[in-house]
Amino acid sequence: MKRPIAYFAGTGRGVPSTVMTNFDFAAIGIDTTDEWIVERTGIKQRHIAKTENATDLAAAASRKAMEKAGVQPGELDIIVLGTASPDRLLPSAAVDLQASLGASRAAAFDVGAACSGFIYSATVAEGLMATGNADTALIVGVEKLSAITDWTDRATCVLFGDGAGAAVLKRSKQQKGILSTFVRSDGSLGDLLCRPAGGAAKPFSSDVLAERSQYIKMNGREVFKNAVRSMSEAATRALDSAKLTGADIDLMIPHQANIRIIEATAKHANIPMAKVYVNVDRYGNTSAASVPIALDEAIERGVVGEGSTVLLVAFGAGFTWGSMVVRL
Ligand code: COA
Repeated sequence: MKRPIAYFAGTGRGVPSTVMTNFDFAAIGIDTTDEWIVERTGIKQRHIAKTENATDLAAAASRKAMEKAGVQPGELDIIVLGTASPDRLLPSAAVDLQASLGASRAAAFDVGAACSGFIYSATVAEGLMATGNADTALIVGVEKLSAITDWTDRATCVLFGDGAGAAVLKRSKQQKGILSTFVRSDGSLGDLLCRPAGGAAKPFSSDVLAERSQYIKMNGREVFKNAVRSMSEAATRALDSAKLTGADIDLMIPHQANIRIIEATAKHANIPMAKVYVNVDRYGNTSAASVPIALDEAIERGVVGEGSTVLLVAFGAGFTWGSMVVRL
């Protein structure tokens, strides 16, 4: 495949208006402190969707991305959407978004790769563009994790936030766009971060509700170790395949789960923290939405722009991990 096939023509984000700080956990009876959360994770606050659904957040992000790209909904050939918290289990979140946007020509589908969902979606979209199946793609990462979080479990409820990020990919005519991609998964570790019930194997029942198994369950320590290892691997693999080193990168945009995971990944990739975008303090872990929200913010704030070389890296439930080098 001769690269670049696709470039980022516009980005956007949509986040709920309600902000919940670390101090707000006391009001819902959670035994935690701002100090514990900041020291362990770097998170100070997160946005929580009180009135918005995932589709609303995704549509807000998508409209901004399309406006910046100068693309009308009817021009989209595909919509590829990464999420672990769709508004409903059937049909897909992508077709709900399609209807909301009026993108009637598009083929729309979800990608189930949890926090790596945006990078997986971009990789799939680029592949469909390479085979001539699409010229213009909308890729989205969206989560309403607050709806699948156990608000009585202090080990997980302090970590997550809601939001959406989107990008329009167009066919590259110049030397800008996606220079390399890397995606991997290891399903043998799926139980370490999962939502045990609510699927077809264990549909909703009174037992499920009693054991609270419809919510995210996580072994934090094991997830942490694997996240550091896999994000470090991913960062290196995308750089190698683009024939670049950390020194060539203007900005690394890692999945925003935890500042300590981010710092370890940056160190492994030989990228100083001054060249790493961090907003986990303001959003918490928004899973599939974290990388595109951060990318959109970095562009809006002028941290990167036309010609910048950016390394995107993510890790999530599955486990899944992936990375991408992009010339903006
Ligand atoms: N506030 C205060 N104490 C808390 C707490 C909270 N919110 N959550 C857990 N604790 C307590 C535990 O109960 C435990 O107490 P104990 O020793 O009396 O049993 C203690 O803190 C240590 O718990 P542990 O889970 O070992 O903490 P940790 O140092 O591993 O940090 C995480 C927990 C979740 C912050 C950390 O494991 C982590 O960041 N993991 C990765 C999570 C992640 O990023 N997931 C998404 C990946 S995409």
